[in-house]
Amino acid sequence: MTFVVTENCIRCKYTDCVEVCPVDCFYEGPNFLVIHPDECIDCALCEPECPAEAIYSEDELPDDQKAFIELNAELSEVWPNISEKKDPLPDAEEWDGKTDKLQHLER
Ligand code: SF4
Ligand code: F3S
Repeated sequence: MTFVVTENCIRCKYTDCVEVCPVDCFYEGPNFLVIHPDECIDCALCEPECPAEAIYSEDELPDDQKAFIELNAELSEVWPNISEKKDPLPDAEEWDGKTDKLQHLER
């Protein structure tokens, strides 16, 4: 089991989540964060911290977000670790809640 970062993080990247993770298992891309599924200990601390409500337990993922299980696993192997909060992306508020953001994912 793991927690998963989903679509609404894209182009927001608030990073409040990384501050509470006891095992530092977040990894950072240009406009999205992912969780390493083998490092996450399912503590659930990050889920309520995300202003964009983008973090779900794997077993509570909405059907249309299931592809993010694989994306988190794949990208956490190649992106660098992030363990400290930073400023959100400049247009985060504007993009929060928008749909079809997967097309904007930068790798
Ligand atoms: Fe880190 Fe816990 Fe969130 Fe997993 S559930 S990513 S261990 S804060
Ligand atoms: Fe993304 Fe939410 Fe963390 S927007 S960076 S999952 S606080």
